[in-house]
Amino acid sequence: MRVCFGWRPFLLFVALVFFLTHFLSVLELHQDPAGSHQNKTKKYDHLVFGPAAGEGLPNRLQCKGNKALNKTLISASSNISNGGDGVTFVTVFTVYNSSVGGRSSESTMVGKVSYNKVARSMTVLNTFINFIQLMMPQSNTLILTDPSSSLPLKRNRVMVYPIQGEYSRDKLMLQRIRSYIAFLEETLKEQSRKPGKRINNIIFTDSDIAVVGDVGQIFSKYEDFHVALTFRNNKQQPLNSGFIAVRGTRDGILRAKSFLEEVLEVYSSKYMTASRMLGDQLAIASVVKSHASFDAKTFGAHEPFLEDINGASVLFLPCAVYNWTPPEGAGQFHGMPLDVKVVHFKGSRKRLMLESWNFLQSSSCRDLSDMLCLVLSSGRTKFLY
Ligand SMILES: *[C@@H]1O[C@H](CO)[C@@H](O)[C@H](O)[C@H]1NC(C)=O
Ligand SMILES: *[C@@H]1O[C@H](CO)[C@@H](O)[C@H](O)[C@H]1NC(C)=O
Ligand SMILES: *[C@@H]1O[C@H](CO)[C@@H](O)[C@H](O)[C@H]1NC(C)=O
Ligand SMILES: *[C@@H]1O[C@H](CO)[C@@H](O)[C@H](O)[C@H]1NC(C)=O
Repeated sequence: MRVCFGWRPFLLFVALVFFLTHFLSVLELHQDPAGSHQNKTKKYDHLVFGPAAGEGLPNRLQCKGNKALNKTLISASSNISNGGDGVTFVTVFTVYNSSVGGRSSESTMVGKVSYNKVARSMTVLNTFINFIQLMMPQSNTLILTDPSSSLPLKRNRVMVYPIQGEYSRDKLMLQRIRSYIAFLEETLKEQSRKPGKRINNIIFTDSDIAVVGDVGQIFSKYEDFHVALTFRNNKQQPLNSGFIAVRGTRDGILRAKSFLEEVLEVYSSKYMTASRMLGDQLAIASVVKSHASFDAKTFGAHEPFLEDINGASVLFLPCAVYNWTPPEGAGQFHGMPLDVKVVHFKGSRKRLMLESWNFLQSSSCRDLSDMLCLVLSSGRTKFLY
């Protein structure tokens, strides 16, 4: 069965801001002067399709070109109109005076639209919100940001929430954990003021993810966790910080807060010299390993598992489903599971995020599974972005 969505035209916000969390591609550009590498690192400013990984594997999406032969679970059965009830997505997004950035006037074409860096970053944020509101229309989204930045963002069910802090580039990952903690503290205070009020379940994510299924279902499917993290079979970085779920109960929030406080402490004391994109992930892995009884091999598994980490019941969810990343998804995960819920467009793959949304929009009756085939078959391409 084919599911058609009514597409509301989405507004393109153009403003003098700079989206810092997405500077990685810029760095890659600097560090990768043309010609100094083999062709495998060649970067493209358009989609380049290759074979879709996972061909012939059961329970993996099968594609013929950009046509999906299997419908993923969401497009086959779900009633998405009540998706996301009681869930709040929370992301840290900060803006800077673009004249400081220097190269902000450079523009790129994505599809038929030309963006300068600032507009492109805002478009990633808006695309992040578009996917959430499409798949989980009852959810809310909260953008934690620097009080000195005024985000030009006015959308239904989206709130901008300023949190005082140090948002400079090299401190951003550290600040992000601080902002998460501050938000949890604020939620607890709010709950003390209005004890009867329901607290939403919280999902902290990077803003370069596309929600492609009702990820809020984890809270009812797995009843016993306070905090959920995503794991993958990667020795150096088994845990990804791009997706952290917290149960919206007083207990869940208290335990999530102490977990993050410990992560913050380990980060500040041990990993400040790590590359600014990695410190938080190394710190999370370090905290988990220092308390957990399982060995590293457990991260080679495919199934979710529950562990007690210093009093918090932590659910470990496989990245393959809850944090699927091209090109890892094309390699390490061997294709795309049919029940994939979150696609994470790290680094220069943000171009693919925008292209995917454009693809879905380009017809009133596009199938989400076809879009996932597009992601899967171009997931090995490195993009200029
Ligand atoms: C790299 O690309 C050039 C032309 O685009 C081609 O002639 C050459 O064979 C390629 N090299 C490798 C190692 O693929
Ligand atoms: C997916 O589609 C392929 C090709 O049509 C089919 O062989 C396979 O059984 C399907 N997988 C599932 C789980 O439905
Ligand atoms: C889908 O969910 C909405 C909201 O909960 C409900 O009103 C509607 O009846 C449901 N539709 C189907 C087909 O289950
Ligand atoms: C942005 O930078 C310009 C030039 O440095 C300066 O004139 C302007 O006041 C700054 N704006 C803000 C909001 O900080």
